[in-house]
Amino acid sequence: MSERSEPAGIHLEGVSATMHDRNRGEIMAVRNVDLDVQPGELLTLLGPSGCGKTTTLRMIAGFQEPSAGRILIAGRDVTRVPANQRDIGFVFQNYALFPHLTIFGNVAYGLQVRDKSSGEIQRAVAEALDLVGLAGFGERLPNELSGGQQQRVALARAIVIRPRVLLFDEPLSNLDAKLRVSMRSEIRRLQQTLQITTVYVTHDQEEAMAISDRIAVMEAGRIAQLDTAEVLYRHPTSAFVAGFIGRANLLRATVESVTDGRAMLEIDGQKLVARTERTLAPGDPVSVVVRPESIAIVRSGASTGLTGIVQTRTYLGDKIEYEVAFGGQTLSVVRFNPADNEEFMPGSTISISVPEANVRLVDGA
Ligand SMILES: Nc1ncnc2c1ncn2[C@@H]1O[C@H](COP(=O)(O)OP(=O)(O)OP(=O)(O)O)[C@@H](O)[C@H]1O
Ligand SMILES: [Mg+2]
Repeated sequence: MSERSEPAGIHLEGVSATMHDRNRGEIMAVRNVDLDVQPGELLTLLGPSGCGKTTTLRMIAGFQEPSAGRILIAGRDVTRVPANQRDIGFVFQNYALFPHLTIFGNVAYGLQVRDKSSGEIQRAVAEALDLVGLAGFGERLPNELSGGQQQRVALARAIVIRPRVLLFDEPLSNLDAKLRVSMRSEIRRLQQTLQITTVYVTHDQEEAMAISDRIAVMEAGRIAQLDTAEVLYRHPTSAFVAGFIGRANLLRATVESVTDGRAMLEIDGQKLVARTERTLAPGDPVSVVVRPESIAIVRSGASTGLTGIVQTRTYLGDKIEYEVAFGGQTLSVVRFNPADNEEFMPGSTISISVPEANVRLVDGA
């Protein structure tokens, strides 16, 4: 890792993957994906099971050929270049270590097949093990290490070849919750130290938010939205993205009027204002997203404004969660740092308010 090359960008253009499934016939696992990963960036593919994350990663790695489109790494078209000539390090969910080889042997393997000298191998393996916090573990066998340590070996094995691109497929899903949190910050630290362009796959939204420069939310083979965690959370463009990044109340509303980018919405007789740049006409049905923590409970007792009835109240220490019946729909409301005397009890009527900047019109329902 001493001689370091410039970080490489990754460019996918109209990339699709057609699969032949015995029961379902021909399916499009990835559909016409355009994607640019910036040099040195950590970009995460996030989405539910079966949305095409692994397939996309496998095409970047060269384990699978796209049925359409092309892939460029550092400006070079690698669409037909075999995996072993793409300069890529890959970390899988199951560490896939060679059980009969020592840790040193496991990490050295990629260098041996590349015919490096033994001095060079000694130095590079020691450096890689040091980077992942496993200096001195070289002589052990994989089964003499914990799960977290084995995953570090897998990481060392991926970086020892000094790849221009690192790919991770659910690398932490076999680890317990605490270890997942500490390993993800280690991966991030290492990625930033080495400045390696990285594509990371997970279906865990918190992990994605914690580790990524940007996140591509995938839905049924397509990228639904690509942005920073903050923009995805604050400005989701679809109901799907809003529901996948954080918690969201999805409400169905009807447009009453629109003036100067402010839409007056009606939800079963109650009025809500949203800011929007969309072209809308009175009577249009729209989907609205409101985050649970952006709803304020103004006071108990019905009055003017929005009125709801508390269905459930769950005390969780640092917050209280409420389910509130609101115009025939149910709202989740979260109140952080609740006051000692906060007692909006089930059955009681409350007034709520939502700042109009926190009411988002989205696609889909
Ligand atoms: N070898 C294969 N043969 C047939 N179909 C496949 C194959 N691999 C994947 N698929 C299908 O392609 C689609 C996308 O799969 P993929 O493995 O990319 O999903 P994923 O997003 O990684 O899901 P997960 O979170 O469960 O790992 C799914 O419908 C899957 O069943
Ligand atoms: Mg997968």
